Amino acid sequence: MHSSFSVLFVCLGNICRSPMAQAAFTSEIQKRHLHIKVDSAGLGSWHIDNPPDNRAIKETARHNIDINTYRGRQIQLEDFVSFTHIIGMDHRNIHQLKKIAPPECLHKISLLMDYSMTHKGQEIADPYYGDQLDFETTWNQVYLGVVGLADYFEKKL
Ligand code: 4NP
Repeated sequence: MHSSFSVLFVCLGNICRSPMAQAAFTSEIQKRHLHIKVDSAGLGSWHIDNPPDNRAIKETARHNIDINTYRGRQIQLEDFVSFTHIIGMDHRNIHQLKKIAPPECLHKISLLMDYSMTHKGQEIADPYYGDQLDFETTWNQVYLGVVGLADYFEKKL
């Protein structure tokens, strides 16, 4: 049974950062036996139905998680209603999310790094125009955020 909490990770394309966050958080809550629905989506429409970026698949596989079967999707208005937590990767994501969210759902939007102990207010930099090493950095950043997020839910559940 899922808890009453559900998390939607959001980035621009839904092929790099948010699928990695989805994978890392899913793995973290499985370890802790927390039951939370998890998904990811993009603000843009470029990568609908596409698998994650090969570099994201490769980096995530180094941590023994297979995201080959993930597919890109664009955030929908109903996501703001159905998810309890909508979590963006950078300040631009947050700005765009706040522009399209129904007013009564604005409180659901937050920045991933704000859940970390040490990097509050910081962004998960977009690795899309970078190289494989940038995806390693993305993983490390995302991991800090999702551990803090899992701590946050563990206290609530
Ligand atoms: P993401 O990275 O937001 O972490 O998935 C991007 C992927 C694709 C594009 C931009 C960012 N794009 O412009 O196609």
